[in-house]
Amino acid sequence: MPGYKNFAVAGAGGLGNFIIDELLRKKAAGNVHKIVVLTRSMQGKDALAAKGVEPIVVDYNSPDALWSALQGVDVVISTVAGRSGPVLTVQEPLAEAAKAAGVKLFVPSEFGGDTINHKDGPLAAKNAQHDKLTQLGLPWALFFTGMFSDYFWNQPFLGFDLNNGKVEVAGMGSGLVSWTSRKDIARYVVYATTSLPPSKLHNHVFKIEGERTSVKKVVAEYEVRTGEKVHITCIPMDEVKKKAASGDFKSLLQLVFELDGTYGREEEMNVDWPDFNPETVVDAMVSSKA
Ligand SMILES: NC(=O)c1ccc[n+]([C@@H]2O[C@H](COP(=O)([O-])OP(=O)(O)OC[C@H]3O[C@@H](n4cnc5c(N)ncnc54)[C@H](OP(=O)(O)O)[C@@H]3O)[C@@H](O)[C@H]2O)c1
Repeated sequence: MPGYKNFAVAGAGGLGNFIIDELLRKKAAGNVHKIVVLTRSMQGKDALAAKGVEPIVVDYNSPDALWSALQGVDVVISTVAGRSGPVLTVQEPLAEAAKAAGVKLFVPSEFGGDTINHKDGPLAAKNAQHDKLTQLGLPWALFFTGMFSDYFWNQPFLGFDLNNGKVEVAGMGSGLVSWTSRKDIARYVVYATTSLPPSKLHNHVFKIEGERTSVKKVVAEYEVRTGEKVHITCIPMDEVKKKAASGDFKSLLQLVFELDGTYGREEEMNVDWPDFNPETVVDAMVSSKA
């Protein structure tokens, strides 16, 4: 059977934990042998060890420690993230160590919109990372997923405050957005890396989309489903653009939601896994609240 069996996940955070859980399901079914988690600290990682994962504390400045942690690993899945672009650069020593240790595939921390050829702006840091993998000659797979549908709705600092029945949008909130839940992203990444042959995996871009819809439509469906009332505050586009130009992250994101929330034609989505069957945005909202 094609597909890889030995995995390292770097950064066990919001998305990383979903990927680890999905790998554990495959391990229980006998399709995955080894799951290593690279972390900067063992704090809070006891539960992972109890589940059958091997957490290894690494110093991203130590090539030897990284090389040693990656022995016997076929695929590195990086989900490292932080508020600043430089966090992503830890993937450079990680990729060099992976190449030296004989890792066959590197999945960099993408998991958003299409970053290819973005030389400026917020997506440039991710683009630079996959360019580095190409330079290194280490095969990569990129997973573009759109917005996390189970994540945004309770991020008040980004204008999504469902717990208090409030959502803030640019314009009318009617721009189309690509959404996928983290559970479904994990399913797709693990499906691809454990099932597809290298010819369909190496240097391949996977475009994933759980649902394509607008914030306004999602809110209306959510109200019907739950009986809860959600108030949408519409901020005029001029105001949002002015704030975005001064670097305000919430405003930048609001513009993406309203003007640039998809990343390709619908026919290009989920083509590598016709049986994907993702959950809708409202399903993800409701289950992440439960
Ligand atoms: N499309 C969307 O809607 C959306 C939303 C959120 C995130 N994302 C993207 O999804 C990916 C994963 O995000 P996430 O929310 O899962 O991230 P996260 O939980 O914020 O962080 C993931 C892990 O990164 C590691 N990390 C943090 N700072 C680090 C540093 N300075 N050096 C090395 N490792 C560090 C930590 O692992 P340890 O403490 O174990 O080392 C942390 O648990 C990122 O690429 C992010 O941009 C997309």
